[in-house]
Amino acid sequence: MARAGRPIVVFDSGEGGLTLLRQAWTLYPGEEYIYICDTAHFPYGQRPLAEVRTFFLGVLRYALTLDPKAVVIACNTATAAALDTAREASGGVPVVGVVEPGILAAVRATENRRIGVLTTVATHRSGIYQQGLKAAEARAVVWQRPCPLLVVLAENGRVTGPESRAAVARCVEGMLAEDVDTLILGCTHFPHMQAIFAEVVGNRAHLIDPGLETAKILPRYVGGLTREGSGTVSLFTTGDPGRVAQVGRQLWEHLVMQPEQLAWEGGEVVWRR
Ligand code: DGL
Repeated sequence: MARAGRPIVVFDSGEGGLTLLRQAWTLYPGEEYIYICDTAHFPYGQRPLAEVRTFFLGVLRYALTLDPKAVVIACNTATAAALDTAREASGGVPVVGVVEPGILAAVRATENRRIGVLTTVATHRSGIYQQGLKAAEARAVVWQRPCPLLVVLAENGRVTGPESRAAVARCVEGMLAEDVDTLILGCTHFPHMQAIFAEVVGNRAHLIDPGLETAKILPRYVGGLTREGSGTVSLFTTGDPGRVAQVGRQLWEHLVMQPEQLAWEGGEVVWRR
């Protein structure tokens, strides 16, 4: 594949990481972005962390063949499972995770130090938010709740309407009753439902989008990001390119390109021309 510059690879299990990609594109439109989703193994959030780590490291090995200037794990679950290992395996290429920027933003935003975190089941089990929030703010009181239904709804493009609104309300009600004043959307699929969250939560809590917070601090990890110009976005999926294109376009009208096909072969990701 002939390319002019070094790309920024953005990764998720599915369409969730598009929420981060859209923010990065808005902030640094001159960059060349390659979005890789391991849709063949979606959802990561229902899998053991060790399995998620194995999948992500396979994707990382493929991503490194693209000579990226950075790899952004736009997936809380893969960040929880594999960030440290990925940094050791990346040969010096910066690997950026979404959890820490979300934690730091939440700690800045909270006034009563009562913080809620919505995640996948695997992120919940990992304890990464609980531990990170306590490390950043020892007096924080943290409520966590896995919301796997929201992941599936967003992955299928169902980000508006009564069913999704009711699902969001079920996830946040208990936390709001505990008087949390800050709510972390700890799965990159959830900000696709930002409008519903804003409506349901209103002014009762600050909503923190770790993907947005990560995009904002990307220059700390990657030098020379261009804030102007016209870059590119390419999509790659290990799943069905037609479905990824259709839902992707629905979630972000900018995504008019046809995704490239990747496949898993013997534990490695390969590009199918
Ligand atoms: N979007 C991902 C996250 O931030 C994972 C969703 C999934 O595959 O379960 O955790």
